[in-house]
Amino acid sequence: MAVYFQICSFLPFACFLYIAAQAQENIHLPEGIGIGGKIAKSFLGVSPDWCFDAGLESVCESKHLQCHTEQVRTYLCTLRPIPCPDNQICTLSELDYWCPAHFTSVCVPICDALGPNVSRCENGGTCNNINSTHFSCNCVPGYTGLDCNTDINECESNPCQNAGMCKDSINDYNCTCPNRYDGKDCELDRCKMGPADVVFLVDSSISQESGNFKKQLSFIKDFVKTVYIGPTFVQVSVITFSFDATVEFDLTSHTDNSSVLAAIDNIEYKPGATHTGAALSAARTVLLQSTRMVRKYVIVLTDGMSSDILNTTYQAKLLKVAGVNIVAIGIGSQILHKELIDIASDDDRVFTVSNHDSLNKIQTQIGSYLCEVCRNEVSDVLYLLDASSSVNLSEFHGALDSLQHLTSILTIGRDKVRVSLVRFATEPEIVFDFQKYTSSIEMQRTFSVLYQYPMPANYTKALEFVYHNGFTNASGAREGKRQVIIFLTNGNNMDSEASKTIDLLKNEGKIIVAIGHGNFVNREKLLNISSYPYMFYHLGEDQYTDNSVLNSLKGLLEYNTCSL
Ligand SMILES: *[C@@H]1O[C@H](CO)[C@@H](O)[C@H](O)[C@H]1NC(C)=O
Ligand SMILES: *[C@@H]1O[C@H](CO)[C@@H](O)[C@H](O)[C@H]1NC(C)=O
Ligand SMILES: *[C@@H]1O[C@H](CO)[C@@H](O)[C@H](O)[C@H]1NC(C)=O
Ligand SMILES: *[C@@H]1O[C@H](CO)[C@@H](O)[C@H](O)[C@H]1NC(C)=O
Ligand SMILES: *[C@@H]1O[C@H](CO)[C@@H](O)[C@H](O)[C@H]1NC(C)=O
Ligand SMILES: *[C@@H]1O[C@H](CO)[C@@H](O)[C@H](O)[C@H]1NC(C)=O
Ligand SMILES: *[C@@H]1O[C@H](CO)[C@@H](O)[C@H](O)[C@H]1NC(C)=O
Ligand SMILES: *[C@@H]1O[C@H](CO)[C@@H](O)[C@H](O)[C@H]1NC(C)=O
Ligand SMILES: *[C@@H]1O[C@H](CO)[C@@H](O)[C@H](O)[C@H]1NC(C)=O
Repeated sequence: MAVYFQICSFLPFACFLYIAAQAQENIHLPEGIGIGGKIAKSFLGVSPDWCFDAGLESVCESKHLQCHTEQVRTYLCTLRPIPCPDNQICTLSELDYWCPAHFTSVCVPICDALGPNVSRCENGGTCNNINSTHFSCNCVPGYTGLDCNTDINECESNPCQNAGMCKDSINDYNCTCPNRYDGKDCELDRCKMGPADVVFLVDSSISQESGNFKKQLSFIKDFVKTVYIGPTFVQVSVITFSFDATVEFDLTSHTDNSSVLAAIDNIEYKPGATHTGAALSAARTVLLQSTRMVRKYVIVLTDGMSSDILNTTYQAKLLKVAGVNIVAIGIGSQILHKELIDIASDDDRVFTVSNHDSLNKIQTQIGSYLCEVCRNEVSDVLYLLDASSSVNLSEFHGALDSLQHLTSILTIGRDKVRVSLVRFATEPEIVFDFQKYTSSIEMQRTFSVLYQYPMPANYTKALEFVYHNGFTNASGAREGKRQVIIFLTNGNNMDSEASKTIDLLKNEGKIIVAIGHGNFVNREKLLNISSYPYMFYHLGEDQYTDNSVLNSLKGLLEYNTCSL
């Protein structure tokens, strides 16, 4: 709500209205006065009578009795006030805006005093009459100020969480979130702990008191409570160390939360020296027992410098060389920062807390280090279509149907899946490259007009062509995208030369999917072509399999990757 003051009503008896009018101001002249052109400058001069009569001061060129096209109309109007009711003010009536005719005074509510359709409140605000001198504005959402001319800065309340950048807009704001966060306010953490093997090393040295030792164990328990424990998720091992390292339990000892938590409760305090090197060595043994291809972490909790400092650094290096991530957590004032840095995989994997009670404060930081950010990824897909006489007509049409179906389930676009089609018989040719189509519909139209060649296939030539020309920058293939070849053929006439080229493609990281149609498909060859057995599809009437089985390819071509 805003309260304003009407200046005009201040003046006791007269209100001067001076209009230095310009034509573009949409002021209409009384009927019969046909003055055209722009009116911009102020002139003093002799006015021809009829100009004067019209209330116009005009300048005429030399002796021509004609109004110049550039004129200034100056109106000096005198308001003869009339008494108005309490809540209204005296103003000019609309009709009498035109001087020098006499004009009438009218009483109007203050909100209407600027004339019809002229609001006192900006940006769509509504005006409320208070009395003859005051009014207020109700602003639409997003605006504030006496007359609603101030855009509210919605960013002022810092709505973006997790270091998101805020951008103000009308009655709204937009947060630009750091990589791992999402959502209107960057409140969604896309970061999840993926499958991992995690070994905790717990300092049981003499410098620890039993109570502090228990606080380290609580820290591990808090961690365990936030993740899923299991053979396919997170596996945890705990090693305590003083003179010796004791593997309290290894990665596979426990397969659910509750038994891990119970096992941690059973760990005893065994005071001694600080042989961190021995603990790191034991961690390596424990990790080597796991054959899972997952991320591996060692989290070292210590409150002082180790007794075997050279061996500690050496053992840490062995772990790091093996691809293990080491997080070093130093507790209290006795820690040797340099040693923690030497142990940890990276400087930002070193955490220090002032005492054991502060351990819980770094729980989320540790959690976010162990987490993985998942992103949607897309692929560049090359359809490799056997259009030779090696496939018969029904097989060829089956292949076209599969392409239609596959294309319909993919999200095709410049920043989505890109698709190119290479057709071959004796000679290969690019029917369209990765840049040509940005929608499934457009692309699907092209399949219906494809035809076969009455010529044998040269598979080696086709595959070599794909190897050299299939995924080039010029064809619109993108760096860093998954590159997939969908090979539609029956495999019958493929020779060993062609197999070699297939290997070249696979070695380059291309993923090969093989799709065969009908009864003459050579299953062994197509299985051999495909990158994995489940990437071979056999379709056709007698197989009782239709194109819907290809839906499983969507997950291969539009997938999630998780990494940090
Ligand atoms: C005021 O608004 C009304 C309705 O929108 C319109 O018909 C009328 O022409 C406007 N008057 C002026 C002077 O703009
Ligand atoms: C008009 O309203 C304002 C605000 O409510 C008040 O301060 C002022 O005294 C009033 N004036 C008259 C003339 O009533
Ligand atoms: C804010 O984000 C929305 C949705 O992404 C978008 O439509 C809008 O244009 C953005 N506004 C600004 C000011 O960036
Ligand atoms: C493990 O702990 C998490 C978090 O408390 C919980 O959501 C999950 O259900 C637990 N799983 C089992 C098997 O107890
Ligand atoms: C380092 O520690 C490991 C494990 O305790 C031990 O086997 C090894 O002998 C130590 N090496 C040196 C040089 O002390
Ligand atoms: C197939 O193409 C290769 C070149 O890639 C060529 O050396 C070979 O002779 C061709 N085979 C036939 C049967 O034409
Ligand atoms: C393709 O383009 C990328 C960058 O756009 C460039 O780094 C790369 O060298 C190019 N590759 C070829 C073969 O031109
Ligand atoms: C084409 O192959 C299908 C089975 O895949 C077979 O039924 C049909 O007879 C073949 N047609 C010709 C003309 O060879
Ligand atoms: C399978 O492929 C390998 C090379 O990738 C080749 O040596 C082998 O001969 C192929 N087997 C068949 C049955 O085609």
